[in-house]
Amino acid sequence: MATKEPTDTMIPPEILKEAEDLRKQIRHHDYLYYVLDSPEISDAAYDLLFRRLEELERACPALITPDSPTQRVGGRPLEKFAQVEHEVPMLSLSNVFNHGELLEFDSRVKRYLGMSGDVVYAVEPKLDGVAVELVYLEGMLVSGSTRGDGYTGEDVTANVRTIRAIPLKLNSVGAFGQASLIDVRGEIFMNRADFDRLNRSREEEGLSSFANPRNASAGSIRQLDPAVTASRPLRFFAYAIGRIEGASPETHWEVLHALAALGIPVNLDNSKLCPNIGAALDHYDRLKDVREGLPYEIDGAVVKVNSMAHQTALGEKTRSPRWAVAFKFEPIQGTTVIRRIEVGVGRTGTLTPVAVMDPVRIGGVQVTRATLHNQDEIERKDIREGDTVVIQRAGDVIPEVVEVVKELRPPDSRPYAIPDTCPVCGSHAVRLEGQAAKRCMNSSCPARLKETVRHFASRTAMDIEGLGTKLVEQLVDKGLVTNAADLFSLDVDTLAGLERMGKKSAANLIDAISRSRKVSADRFLFALGIPLVGEHVARLLMEAFRDVHELSAQSVDDLQRIRGIGPEVAESVVDFFAEPKNADMIQRLLARDVGPVPLERTGRDSAGPFAGKTVVLTGTLSMKRSEAKAALEAAGAKVTGSVSSKTDYVIAGQDPGSKLDKARELGIEVLDEDRFRQMLGS
Ligand code: IVH
Repeated sequence: MATKEPTDTMIPPEILKEAEDLRKQIRHHDYLYYVLDSPEISDAAYDLLFRRLEELERACPALITPDSPTQRVGGRPLEKFAQVEHEVPMLSLSNVFNHGELLEFDSRVKRYLGMSGDVVYAVEPKLDGVAVELVYLEGMLVSGSTRGDGYTGEDVTANVRTIRAIPLKLNSVGAFGQASLIDVRGEIFMNRADFDRLNRSREEEGLSSFANPRNASAGSIRQLDPAVTASRPLRFFAYAIGRIEGASPETHWEVLHALAALGIPVNLDNSKLCPNIGAALDHYDRLKDVREGLPYEIDGAVVKVNSMAHQTALGEKTRSPRWAVAFKFEPIQGTTVIRRIEVGVGRTGTLTPVAVMDPVRIGGVQVTRATLHNQDEIERKDIREGDTVVIQRAGDVIPEVVEVVKELRPPDSRPYAIPDTCPVCGSHAVRLEGQAAKRCMNSSCPARLKETVRHFASRTAMDIEGLGTKLVEQLVDKGLVTNAADLFSLDVDTLAGLERMGKKSAANLIDAISRSRKVSADRFLFALGIPLVGEHVARLLMEAFRDVHELSAQSVDDLQRIRGIGPEVAESVVDFFAEPKNADMIQRLLARDVGPVPLERTGRDSAGPFAGKTVVLTGTLSMKRSEAKAALEAAGAKVTGSVSSKTDYVIAGQDPGSKLDKARELGIEVLDEDRFRQMLGS
């Protein structure tokens, strides 16, 4: 039996076990990511495991083993490729995350160099792809290799040679024109549009899709068959050199220009020479602004000391140079802990589970709640109270749980089930056949009523200004409103008696309610809150019928004859009017002088060239955008805001935007104004 290491006895056994478990997990995920190019967890989840292990090892250095993942510089070379030594190690970059940390970097540089004046920096986009080294001997590409662990990489020469952006022979002009040997370093990456197209065609072939452009690039460069790499839309930008013989550049900026002169792609358009750290900050801010519009993904800016002499003087730490940092953009993913799961009740009675979490900053916004959608979604991701989760927030969308970090799950956790009773009224909640959601079946449930009234008054429905959530709650809780029609019986005195209401605001609200009596018929229909009847469907229906009364007399078959109305919507409409309570409420609304204004019959064209087509407008036309839209809709088209594979035509006026590029990429027919008018006329 082996004797125990003496250090082991000093480490609490549960900590030792946790560290061992974490190492096993990390190795497993490394293998999936680096060797199979098929990660099972997100980078954020991986980082969390890694940081926890680092934390344990920092607190207890006796835990560190030479083979711990924390003791390695980068990934490991693939065994299936020959190995290549990097004569000058390919280092990684340390990260900074805010202005203050970048200023500290600048201070460190100055302190190290014993300088008091400004340091000049080159600032470049940080591309999110795969780092490679290309060796050019007498101007000929002789080797291409991945970064591997920084010292030894994989020989991917045959694959690199298939990338069109990478020259096989260099120009012999510029500062490096006569160099006999150069190691060119840079990033292999994929444009977003190319990535989307690649994934689409893989899906069509029944293959798995790549999680993101970086994984797709990594998977494409590590192919044993160069023909596969050649079929992938890979690109390249150079950002540094390793060895160089026959030239001695004095600045990094000179390196970038000399590489460009050789015919190597360099991202000069988005790079900037900055006379001081303030200018570097400005360029970072600019990159953050243009980020979304770039065809490829960047995850930050790289700030590099420009003088090569200074770079040499600063040297490096184990993993990264002292003369450069990556200034990362705020992540759109973050990790936090779910404290509890709450259930909200919507106007149709749908119970929606919401995770209430410890606050986490994501992309500059504090996030505390994330939607969990429904029971299926909870089960698919196995989300539980107490779980550590990866949260994602993209643009304005509601934050979502990407995945659970199962390794950090508390031992006493239990699967979560949405309750069988409504959390507000206590009525039975059921999951109807074929539906994902559980519903409270009590149509007078106060939670449902509040949501119904709130929706009725909302801006895109009856547009009753001043009738906010808090007020609706009071009105319902006090029994003053038992359905939407009751709003029209309210008076100033009653309203003025409510919390946070004065005479003046009460009078304003009564005015607003009164004005809403004359909304257009489609808004009125939308306001009723019929399941599946959104603004667009409401408009289609009210263009087909004079008023709600006429609509209520239609059968499912009648309704389905209207273009754009399918069987589910038709059934939902018929069911709604068949419910006596709903018919009664409409009667009461009409009795209180609510008189929606019928829409003009647009005489929709069902045979013209635009009938049933999806059209996108871009650029300036000689008519107003709203006029063009109305004309198209009258001709039977659906006008949408963004170009996708479902778009039939893009109409391009003067100075068209990126929508035109997208249309060309997707091979969608583009019409100029003349052609558009011609087709409208025909
Ligand atoms: S310079 C010693 N410049 O970031 C400095 N790296 O974390 C070597 N990267 O492995 C890197 N864009 O894959 C540099 N403009 C850029 C970069 C860049 C992306 C990547 C590269 C490197 C990693 C470092």
